[in-house]
Amino acid sequence: MTNEDAKIQIDKLRKVLSGHNYSYYVMAMPSISDFEFDTLLKQLQELEAQYPEFYSADSPTQKVGGAINKSFENIAHTYPMLSLGNTYNEEDLRDFDERVKKGLGTDDYEYVCELKFDGLSISLHYEGGKLLRAVTRGDGVSGDVVTDNVRTIKSLSTELHGDFPNAFEMRGEIFMHRKAFERLNKQREEAGEMQYANPRNVAAGTLKLQDSAEVAKRPLDIYLYQLIESGNVFKTHSESLEAAKSWGLKTSEHSNVCADIDAVLNFIRHWDSERHHLSYDIDGVVLKVNDFRQREELGFTAKVPRWAISFKFKTEAALTKLNKITYQVGRTGAITPVANLDPVFLLGTTVKRASLHNANEIQRLDVREGDYVYVEKGGEIIPKITGVDLSKRDPDSKPHQYITNCPECGAELVRKEGEANHYCPNDEGCEPQVVGKIQHFSGRRAMDIDSIGDETVQTLFENGLVNNIADLYDLQYDQIIKLDRMAETSAQNLLKGIEDSKKMPFAKVLFGLGIRYVGETVAKKLAQHFRNINAIAAASLDELTAVDEIGERIALSVTDYFAELKHVEMVNRLQENGLQLESTTEVVKRDSELLAGKIVVISGTFHKHSRDDIGKMIEANGGKQGSSVSGKTDLLVAGDNMGPAKLEKANKLGIKIISED
Ligand code: IVH
Repeated sequence: MTNEDAKIQIDKLRKVLSGHNYSYYVMAMPSISDFEFDTLLKQLQELEAQYPEFYSADSPTQKVGGAINKSFENIAHTYPMLSLGNTYNEEDLRDFDERVKKGLGTDDYEYVCELKFDGLSISLHYEGGKLLRAVTRGDGVSGDVVTDNVRTIKSLSTELHGDFPNAFEMRGEIFMHRKAFERLNKQREEAGEMQYANPRNVAAGTLKLQDSAEVAKRPLDIYLYQLIESGNVFKTHSESLEAAKSWGLKTSEHSNVCADIDAVLNFIRHWDSERHHLSYDIDGVVLKVNDFRQREELGFTAKVPRWAISFKFKTEAALTKLNKITYQVGRTGAITPVANLDPVFLLGTTVKRASLHNANEIQRLDVREGDYVYVEKGGEIIPKITGVDLSKRDPDSKPHQYITNCPECGAELVRKEGEANHYCPNDEGCEPQVVGKIQHFSGRRAMDIDSIGDETVQTLFENGLVNNIADLYDLQYDQIIKLDRMAETSAQNLLKGIEDSKKMPFAKVLFGLGIRYVGETVAKKLAQHFRNINAIAAASLDELTAVDEIGERIALSVTDYFAELKHVEMVNRLQENGLQLESTTEVVKRDSELLAGKIVVISGTFHKHSRDDIGKMIEANGGKQGSSVSGKTDLLVAGDNMGPAKLEKANKLGIKIISED
């Protein structure tokens, strides 16, 4: 293929794929199957790798991220990003409407009602139909440039079509769908990591991640609700949003033009109940005068526009008595305090328990047994306690004393410096930990032993048949047939399930071990890199952190795990029982040994190759990737925007620095 042909082919694929992205993410109407999409995307990736001179940040391949931002540039907004006045009831809203009527001297005006998305506002700058820059709200006057991270949002068009102005700004809200949030929290729980409180916090944290490839793994979404362009092309807000939509920008399908305040109130009532059926959180409705000239007439107060206001939904809170604080012990030994409440009805369900997260949270709320507390459904998921009604507090009540010993086994709890949670260290003798670890191992995401549910594990444990995961492989038919309610076929199925699990791939077994912070993705990375369990057990901290995405915290947890003889013995038993403790997939063929024994650090953003590709090249030539510049580093591949501190350190240590070329 000539360069010219390649360019034509690349452009064609980009166009086709952008079109499919648009159908899928903006119009919610998939136009091809996932498989076909992936096939085309792969073709494009291969061509782009072969012809790096045709790199484009707007290519659909860049939606997987790759650029690393060490610090975010802060720039001033063209117009300040203002907030809105709030109203909470009909009366306030009618007052606002009266002010608008008076300000305009007529009742000939209309409102546009929009959902108030509970995320983070963002300002997007487009030039020549391409996304140039994305800036966070910051303090309203200036914000951080987070373009690389925003580019990973699948529903965001980075190349527009139709009759768009050459330069304009579009503002909107970035958020995360509840399902994606729950999935992420579940993964974090499995890896023994702290849970996020609500989708909004995750979205905020995600936008500030330094590695845009990490951002791409956390699906964010966007709705755009304000066009700013200097040509005065549009007369009304609704017209401008229609146009933006026609250029490929994602606007909400739930906006409505309302002729008067009564129509606005109907819109609000409708969405107050309907919001629970949305896949994302909204916290109210925004009403905006539709006509731009009328907006100008009304102007601004010092802080907010006079032509728009928000109506906030009541967060559904209930007041109830907290009878007792009890404690749960997770499989990793993490302690979670739980508030046991007088049952109270909230958003369609009866709430009896709420998480208090950790000792800091109890201290922050100064919540005590016997208090009357406010319970809310944060993001409509897990109920949480948001405050205490002090007027109802018993004058003799005392601050709550956090437990010092495990409620299950009595062992003294430990709390590592810098960690919010207390832990029970008795991992072998504490029932919920022992049972929880076996349940995790046999569960769907690890060994997927269908015939062993959580209850079966509990029964096996209570009957003294299993104390750890290796014991599963010693189970005999004669032992289990004696158990209550165990029929012949279920006993046989149980054993067959265990036998079949021996075929599960290494990464699943590794994840099943339940090493703290080793979630599914980390297990895969480790399995891929080290190929077998013995190599992982023998790896030093440096060797572990040299693996892509393995940081010090994970590395320490892995070395701690294998430093314990009981773990090594258990793994040996698994090995003897024939479980897959090495990767069977073919080892990638080396191109050369040029970098054998060398540790190479990649830093900054690149134009011709993705970071992943550079990593693969290093490994294909015998080298290992390091995560940070240290005395062990042999080479530094430096891209744009590399942090000055890193550069200085590399220079000081005399490390050779090379460019992507
Ligand atoms: S209009 C001057 N429209 O709410 C107009 N804001 O309390 C400013 N928000 O910072 C914004 N959905 O983050 C507007 N449909 C919507 C919105 C919305 C959510 C957020 C936005 C803003 C905050 C104001």
